[in-house]
Amino acid sequence: MSPGADPGAMPGKVAEATAIAHPNIALAKYWGKRDVASNVPAVPSLSVTLAGMRTRTTVAFDAALHEDVLTLGGREASPEARARAATLLARVRDASGERRFARVVSDNDFPTASGLASSASGFAALALAATRAAGLDWNPARVSDLARRSSASAARSLFGGFVALGTEPGSDGVLAAESVPAALPDLRVVVAVTSEGAKATNSTSGMLRTQETSPFYRAWLDVAPRLCADVRAGVVAGDFEATGRAAEASALAMHASAIAAGVVYWNGATLEALRTVFDLRARGTLAFATMDAGPHVKVITRDADVALVATCLRSVPGVLRVLETSPGEGARLDPEGHR
Ligand code: DP6
Repeated sequence: MSPGADPGAMPGKVAEATAIAHPNIALAKYWGKRDVASNVPAVPSLSVTLAGMRTRTTVAFDAALHEDVLTLGGREASPEARARAATLLARVRDASGERRFARVVSDNDFPTASGLASSASGFAALALAATRAAGLDWNPARVSDLARRSSASAARSLFGGFVALGTEPGSDGVLAAESVPAALPDLRVVVAVTSEGAKATNSTSGMLRTQETSPFYRAWLDVAPRLCADVRAGVVAGDFEATGRAAEASALAMHASAIAAGVVYWNGATLEALRTVFDLRARGTLAFATMDAGPHVKVITRDADVALVATCLRSVPGVLRVLETSPGEGARLDPEGHR
């Protein structure tokens, strides 16, 4: 099989493409859906795409298959994961006229489904590889919209650096993420990994439970757009402290609304790491914490403080590993194929 897209695929010939995407960390969180069926977020979000962790995904449409098949990290994927991938692949078949089922092989070099945003890099890589394998020459915005329908955070991983996602689809139904011009070249994210296992409640069900039952969901909807605007203003102005403060406030408000619905992603080490970040700040180091739908603590800091922050996090009981990451590139095709 030759690697790369094969738009002029003949019947029986495999059309294959491989894409790489990185996770992203939301500085201003998306939590809650305005429209569940078309997966439109209830609040705007703003993230930074991270180098240092990656998903690589190959999609091959093949006439020998009788259904879409998905291998994640060398193992057959769960029926749920396969069904989510098949929904995206069905959209690609509808748009391209490709009729064959696809074999999808994907791997992450970081823990899957543990709150390290594997669905973001996963669906970004899948959307790009699948459109190319089907011969669709879509621009990044259109691929971002496709990824967003499967997992809204994935829309942001199509782009590198700082990326925003809104809440208003255009009249054509397209809602894509877009790059934000940023002036924070020395922003870094230090990740304190506090569990290697998969999370108990995935983000989709956690946010639906929050919006259906949390007494504080309304308060979250009120505050989130303002915090996102504050993050954006800080990023654009190059104001690291304002960005960090608004980002931490967004994460704490999101988790407060979720916790009130019984959706608790934190473990003991999450709280200890959070306290460590507060202590660092009390001693004058600019470091700010953010947490997603998992127990890890991601610390937003500057290049000059990475070593100190990482050392402090490594000494927290329950912190298993510490990863140092920087803003990274958007999703892209990998001409070398799957390795
Ligand atoms: C806490 O994008 O995974 O990471 O659209 O239902 O797939 P679905 O949700 P997902 O949620 C991400 C939630 C978050 C915050 C964020 O990334 O903005």
